[in-house]
Amino acid sequence: MNPLEELAQLLAQAVALIGEAASPERLEPLRVKFLGRKSRLSEIMSGLPALPVELRAVTGKQANQFKASVEAALAQRRQVLGVAPAKPALDVTLPGTAVPQGRLHPITRTIEAILGVFQPMGFEVIEGPEAEFAYYNFDALNIPPDHPSRESFDTFFIDTPSPQPAKGPLLLRSHTSPVQVRVMEQRPPPLRIVVPGKVYRPDALDPSHSFMFHQVEGLMVDDRTTFADLKGVLEQCLKALFGAHTRTRFRPHFFPFTEPSAEVDIACAACQGAGCPTCGRKGWLEIMGCGMVHPHVLKAVRYNPAKVQGFAFGMGVERIAMLQYGVKDIRLFFENDLRFLSQF
Ligand code: PHE
Repeated sequence: MNPLEELAQLLAQAVALIGEAASPERLEPLRVKFLGRKSRLSEIMSGLPALPVELRAVTGKQANQFKASVEAALAQRRQVLGVAPAKPALDVTLPGTAVPQGRLHPITRTIEAILGVFQPMGFEVIEGPEAEFAYYNFDALNIPPDHPSRESFDTFFIDTPSPQPAKGPLLLRSHTSPVQVRVMEQRPPPLRIVVPGKVYRPDALDPSHSFMFHQVEGLMVDDRTTFADLKGVLEQCLKALFGAHTRTRFRPHFFPFTEPSAEVDIACAACQGAGCPTCGRKGWLEIMGCGMVHPHVLKAVRYNPAKVQGFAFGMGVERIAMLQYGVKDIRLFFENDLRFLSQF
């Protein structure tokens, strides 16, 4: 038999035996038998020089191919037996794997609902930094250095040297009002903005307090805005959020950066003003602070209080979301328990 035929036969034999090998350990003896130093392949290779010239080249080539084919068969069988267990064929009739649908966090939904009330009224959405200078959080808002809310007790101060010492130390903003100042500093009146964002206060965690929560701030300044505009805009907002029948009440209050100032209450949805556990028997729920921008604040941003005036408000998003969705504990919003979140 000439070496070419012999190699063809050997290859068929090798492939068959390798294909039948029942475990990875059975493969090594086969490798030795067909490719080893004492194999027929090895003999054929060493016999090459003795062959007639016309046979020598083809036989060499055939021998190399034989080697490559046997090695490939070995590798393939090794994989089938060891590394990768045989995969069942794809069954296209099986139902597909469902991809669970994501959803927006309830706080995000409430923020979007609030912004969605103001955007059609021409308010632009703006964001500001959470790490803020004391100047914007306090001074420019007419909160003097000896004001009680300045005490570190009420604010998280950041323990690094201020990058702009003239603007005081860095802190985590305790409200979104500093963004009013930042925007007015940059732009001339008139302006209408709403500012969603996180704020921080060192409160102990309980069902209605968290050291981080969200506010939406609003600011409108021009040459004629009045308290009546403020009232109209906020009533509109609360009716959009809580339903057309919602009753609101403006209660005199004090904020250093607005004058006059008010807090806005809505009639408790649970008891319609009669008094119940939800509203602490008051019949009303406090929803936000507001007022006419204080002349000192206008002066701090180089606006002329004799020429321009405006209103500002700030509402607590968690408060609103808790009432909208009947959530009794603020901590549920931040624990990321999917059993809670997937209800929205
Ligand atoms: N910044 C105030 C707070 O956090 C809310 C507020 C904003 C009041 C704007 C008046 C005007 O309590």
